[in-house]
Amino acid sequence: MTETVVTDTVTIFDTTLRDGEQSPGCSMTMPEKLKIAEALVELGVDVIEAGFPIASPGDFEAVRAVAQQFGDRATICGLARCRREDIERAAEALKGIAKPRIHVFLATSPIHRQFKLKMAEQEIVRAAVEHVELARSFCDNIEFSPEDAARTELPFLCEVVEKAIAAGATTVNIPDTVGYATPTHYFKVISYLKQHVSNIGQAVISTHCHNDLGLAVANSLAAVEAGARQVECTINGLGERAGNAALEEIVMAIKTRGDYYNVQTRINTPKLCGISRLVSSTTGMLVQRNKAIVGQNAFAHEAGIHQHGMLQNRSTYEIMRAEDVGFIGENMVLGKHSGRHAFRARVAELGYTLDDASLQKVFDEFIALADKKKNVYDADIIALIDKQSNVTADRWQLIQFQVGAGTGTIPTASIVLRDTSKSDESNLFREAVIGDGPIDAVFKAMERIIGVTAELKDYQVRAVSGGEDAQGDASVEIEYLGRRYHGKDVSTDIIEASARAYLKALNRALSENAAKPAT
Ligand code: KIV
Ligand code: ZN
Repeated sequence: MTETVVTDTVTIFDTTLRDGEQSPGCSMTMPEKLKIAEALVELGVDVIEAGFPIASPGDFEAVRAVAQQFGDRATICGLARCRREDIERAAEALKGIAKPRIHVFLATSPIHRQFKLKMAEQEIVRAAVEHVELARSFCDNIEFSPEDAARTELPFLCEVVEKAIAAGATTVNIPDTVGYATPTHYFKVISYLKQHVSNIGQAVISTHCHNDLGLAVANSLAAVEAGARQVECTINGLGERAGNAALEEIVMAIKTRGDYYNVQTRINTPKLCGISRLVSSTTGMLVQRNKAIVGQNAFAHEAGIHQHGMLQNRSTYEIMRAEDVGFIGENMVLGKHSGRHAFRARVAELGYTLDDASLQKVFDEFIALADKKKNVYDADIIALIDKQSNVTADRWQLIQFQVGAGTGTIPTASIVLRDTSKSDESNLFREAVIGDGPIDAVFKAMERIIGVTAELKDYQVRAVSGGEDAQGDASVEIEYLGRRYHGKDVSTDIIEASARAYLKALNRALSENAAKPAT
C-alpha cells in the first residue's frame, strides 16, 4: 500500500434537496426534507443546498426550516437567480443562522446568452457583479455560478469569474449544466481558470457536474485533480435528467485513492448506505443493484475464482470494505422467538436510533412478518424501519381489499378506503371495479373512490431479500395535473404493497395540490 500524504480537504456541497428534488417525481414534503437534512448533517457534509427560496412558498419554508434546525451544524445554502427579489428571498430564508450561504447564478454560454437570456456579454458581467454585491450585503459567504460554464468561451468565463470574485464571491462554481464535458476537457477548464483569473486565489473553485454522458463523477474528480476544492453532488446521483455527480462515489473515490488525489473529505463514510436508502425510499427513486458503493451487488462476489481469492486475502478483489460504507448484506438475523432486546440490539447495529414508541411499532411488525416468513433478513428489518419512518398523516387510508384474477376470468378488485378528513361513521367508502389485471383494478377502484384520475408512469416491484417468501417492495410513479408523484410500500403480499404505494402517491398529489394557493 502506498502511504497517503493528505494535503487538503475538499468541501462536500450536497444539493439533493435542491437539484436532486428537481428530478421529476422526486418532490419531497417538509418533514421529508428535514429528515434528509438531519441525515446529511450526520453524514458530515459541509454545505447543504436546501432549496430555491423564490421558487414557491413551500421551498422558502423548507429552506427556512432546514436553516433554523441545522444552520449551526452545516452551512445552509439557498439558490437565487441574478434578480433582487430572489436574493432578498434567499437572505430572508437564511436570516439569523450561524452559517448561511447565498448561491447566485447566471448563464454565460453563447447558447444561453442568445436564446434564453437575450443578453450581451457585458450585460451578463454587469448583472453578475451587481447581484453578487447585493448578495454580499446580506452575508459573507457567497457562491457564484456561471451556468453552463462548460460550454462558455474560456476568456469570457475568466472575465465573469474574475469580476464575480472582485464583487465578493467566496466560492466560484463551474457548472457542467448539461453534462457535456469530458474529464480531460474539464481538467483543462479548471486549469485555465487557475492560470488566467488573477484573483482566483481569493475564492474556492467548485464543480457541479451533470451526468448526461455518464461522466459526472469522472469530471468532478478531474476538477479536483486540477485544483477544485468543493464538489457539488447528490445522494445516489439524484437530479434532473441523468442526475448529478453521486456523492457516495466522489467521497469513496477520494478516500480509496487518497494516494493519488492527496485530498480528504469530512464525510462519515459508514453512513453512506443508510442515507442512500433514506433518499431512495423518500423519493421512490430506486438504486440499481449494481450501482457503485451503495447498490445491493456492490460487495457481492459470485465468481468462484474471486471467492477463492477473497478467502485467502480480501484485498485480492476488494478495494473497499463493506463496513466502511455501512453496507448491509442479506444476513439472516432473527426469528419470531427473538425477544425485544435482541431486536433493539440488531436495530442499533444496523445504525438506526428509534425512540421507544417507534421501536415498539417496528417490533410488532417484525413479529407479524416472522409469522408469515421463514427467514427474516437485515434487509427486511430495514424495510420495516423505512416504512415506519415514512408513515405520513395521509387523508386516504386503505382498510381492506380483495382481488379476483386468473386465466379465463375478468380481473376484479373491491376496495374499502377511509377518508380521515371525516370523523363520523360515514368515512368508509367502498368500490368494486374490473380492470386489465388485478393491480389495474385495484388502482382504478381507489381512483374511483377518491374521484381523481392519474396516469401511471412507472411501476416496479422487487424482492427486499432472497427466498420465495420475500417481502415485495412496490414503487409507483404517477402523473397528476402535469406533475409527477411517487409512492412506495412493502408487504409480503405484492398486491397490498402496490395498493398502498399507489394510494401514497395519490395522497401526495392531493395534498400538494390542496396546499397550492388558488390561482
Ligand atoms: O446545473 C446547473 O448549472 C445548476 C446551477 C444552478 C448551479 O444547477
Ligand atoms: Zn445542476
